[in-house]
Amino acid sequence: MVTVQGFTFSSRPNMKLSSFLLQLTVFVLSCLAFSLANAGNVTYDHRSLIINGQRKLLISAAIHYPRSVPAMWPGLVQTAKKGGVDVIETYVFWNGHELSPGNYYFGGRYDLVKFVKIVQEAGLYLILRIGPFVAAEWNFGGVPVWLHYVPGTVFRTDNEPFKHYMEKFTTFIVNLMKQEKLFASQGGPIILAQVENEYGYYESAYGEAGKRYAMWAASMAVSQNIGVPWIMCQQFDAPDTVIDTCNSFYCDQFKPLSPNKPKIWTENWPGWFKTFGSRDPHRPPEDVAFSVARFFQKGGSVQNYYMYHGGTNFGRTSGGPFITTSYDYDAPIDEYGLPRFPKWGHLKELHGAIKLCEHALLNGEPTHMSLGPSQEADVYTDSTGACAAFISNTDEKNDKTVEFRNASYHLPAWSVSILPDCKNVVFNTAKVRAQTTVVEMVAEDLQPSVASPDKGMKALKWEIFVEKVGVWGEADFIKNGFVDHINTTKDITDYLWYTTSIFVSENEAFLKKGSQPVLFIESKGHALHAFVNEKLEASASGNGTNPPFKFKKPVSLKAGKNEIALLSMTVGLQNAGSFYEWVGAGLTSVKIEGFNNGTVDLSSNAWTYKIGLQGEHLGLYKSDGMDNVNWLSTPEPPKEQPLTWYKAIVDAPPGDEPIGLDMIHMGKGLAWLNGEEIGRYWPWKSSVHDKCVKECDYRGKFMPDKCFTGCGEPTQRWYHIPRSWFKPSGNILVIFEEKGGDPTKISFSRRKTSGVCADVAEDYPSFELEPEHENGNVGTKNNAAILLNCPKHTRISTVKFASFGTPTGTCGSYSKGECHDPKSISVVEKMCLNKNECAIELTEENFSKVLCPDATKKLAVEAVCS
Ligand code: GAL
Repeated sequence: MVTVQGFTFSSRPNMKLSSFLLQLTVFVLSCLAFSLANAGNVTYDHRSLIINGQRKLLISAAIHYPRSVPAMWPGLVQTAKKGGVDVIETYVFWNGHELSPGNYYFGGRYDLVKFVKIVQEAGLYLILRIGPFVAAEWNFGGVPVWLHYVPGTVFRTDNEPFKHYMEKFTTFIVNLMKQEKLFASQGGPIILAQVENEYGYYESAYGEAGKRYAMWAASMAVSQNIGVPWIMCQQFDAPDTVIDTCNSFYCDQFKPLSPNKPKIWTENWPGWFKTFGSRDPHRPPEDVAFSVARFFQKGGSVQNYYMYHGGTNFGRTSGGPFITTSYDYDAPIDEYGLPRFPKWGHLKELHGAIKLCEHALLNGEPTHMSLGPSQEADVYTDSTGACAAFISNTDEKNDKTVEFRNASYHLPAWSVSILPDCKNVVFNTAKVRAQTTVVEMVAEDLQPSVASPDKGMKALKWEIFVEKVGVWGEADFIKNGFVDHINTTKDITDYLWYTTSIFVSENEAFLKKGSQPVLFIESKGHALHAFVNEKLEASASGNGTNPPFKFKKPVSLKAGKNEIALLSMTVGLQNAGSFYEWVGAGLTSVKIEGFNNGTVDLSSNAWTYKIGLQGEHLGLYKSDGMDNVNWLSTPEPPKEQPLTWYKAIVDAPPGDEPIGLDMIHMGKGLAWLNGEEIGRYWPWKSSVHDKCVKECDYRGKFMPDKCFTGCGEPTQRWYHIPRSWFKPSGNILVIFEEKGGDPTKISFSRRKTSGVCADVAEDYPSFELEPEHENGNVGTKNNAAILLNCPKHTRISTVKFASFGTPTGTCGSYSKGECHDPKSISVVEKMCLNKNECAIELTEENFSKVLCPDATKKLAVEAVCS
């Protein structure tokens, strides 16, 4: 697979500084150098947060610590910082920390203190969204499943047990942070904390008790005395003791409840999550940038990307139901930890441009000017005379040229231009100068480990363990009729066996005719494999929008006793909604149609239940080697065989690129490496008949269903295995396959950036924005330029395409237009070959400007990195 992304640049040669902007820069620089070093006192006024007496304009990035691994945290935080981010935002994941009442865990991916300290060491602030209800596409919205079974508990309302455990956990986290001196008031990085999450949407469903609960949550939080403000998002009746904040794709029109509160955007979704079986949503970088610029244009002062790095729902942490193991989110940093281009680069430039306006924005009086029906300018002038302006065109279709302060400005449709000096446009949200990258998943066959007993053998050796169909060991219980799946498993496993039998008389006509009766099953969700006499007859499931399902399937029955064994599965528990914890799963009706007497209803039969799989019980996924007795060596592993565990000892794949496990040839199940839980895999394909787009029109309001790719492809083919989980050799890969697949076709894939592309037109803003806003400055107006940058340790080895003129297409499909400067390739080669990065200006020395004088020309380049 090849995907195309963009990139941005660290430096640009020969830039002169103009004086007006230099002054501004020095100012921005001195403020930043002071504030980032230590947080201290955090207050606010109507305009912004005030940290150590300074108003602050903050770009924040959500990175959830358990969605990556500690070895990735420093790199992710640095990539965010390089992208122009000031703050890292994370939820706290209650169910990962309080495993049973009072039994806390803070190890591994749940080492919250370590994560916060990494952020602090990077010189960034942190927003701690304690919740502890979080939604977040996380299992059960982050609330521990055990709490649902504490008698009398109702979540998120004026309910004593819920409030008791919520307060206890919140206090525990607050005390932990205090103990480690992590609040800004103690010199730490935490500048804000959040209680609850978007409760405003659900409050009325809980009646009067809902309101009482919301007020209780706020005062419980405030009474924790953390010395920094508390926020509540989408809480439409938040009390004055907390700051109410906005979550949406756009928050420019948001107004906090009180005129004394700053305008804070806690969730700007730069993409969206995926559910198994569905398509892959994308939000175009131009629209993300537009939404951010509009927010700051309209007086916002803290903006957070949810997610900036989405990461991975390892193990069974994904909620939903049906949320994929990948939580990539089309975020500025991809699931694997690589900057996503051009999104990351485009937003980095945006952040640089906004930071240049910080002082005027925060200290200036805004003037609003209408420049047309959908065109407006917001101008901020401070007492030093500094002036910054944002000019927007919210027309969804038409570009427009407007007059502003005696100059004319061309505004593409649905875009914002940023003028840090009220004169020069340094950035327009619709003009993406940042480079794109070509990203490939390079297959690496599984290599038998040099450390495994079959050392020296060429072929990989597999060991297997086959689950018994139906109840293994002793039954857990027998009951007439159906139990709820979740109430029974309490989510310690995805799996629950429902088994019964049916006696078929020899007189049944279908036996004589050789025809098949029809099994008819109804379930509240989420998925099911139906076995009759130990043979897998059918698999079915609901989906992310509708978890319940029913299905009919002809099955083979024999005369005499027939065993019906139904493996019901959950695929992540509900994570939001009013009373969401009561949503059940599992079978509600089982019938067989086509008997002499019509339909036989098995629903009130005696059903025998077994929770979980034998392999889970035996701990086959563990890496301690204690389970060798259970595994069976096979020269050839069985293929397309249901309920099979596979184990192989493999070497780490070569190189240092991030790794995905390619499961396209498998069915559905769970995977582990060295006892670490990779997660649920399910390469379920979306329908070819769904609507997908080749190119996304960024113009107009974004909704998650606007720009899908991946029709007819598995929603998730690759499953991230962090590099830190690998040893050089002797890695134990364990797969549990439910319905059948070909393990010999499982491979690792290296996520490799193999090329870079960029296209920039003559009329693009050409002020240079330094990469880190600490040094933020705008150079003098130059010619527009392309900047290419290959990954570390690689160089531009080939220029595949270069055309100055009117080239068309996008990265991977560029072609020359009618107008083309024949020197293009040689110019680019001269400047870029064998370099890790290069800049090509669209100057007269480089390219023929007399060429097609009426056209706005552009330069498009595609190059190979190796
Ligand atoms: C919000 C919620 C987040 C997350 C997001 C969608 O409503 O607060 O936790 O679920 O939606 O990704």
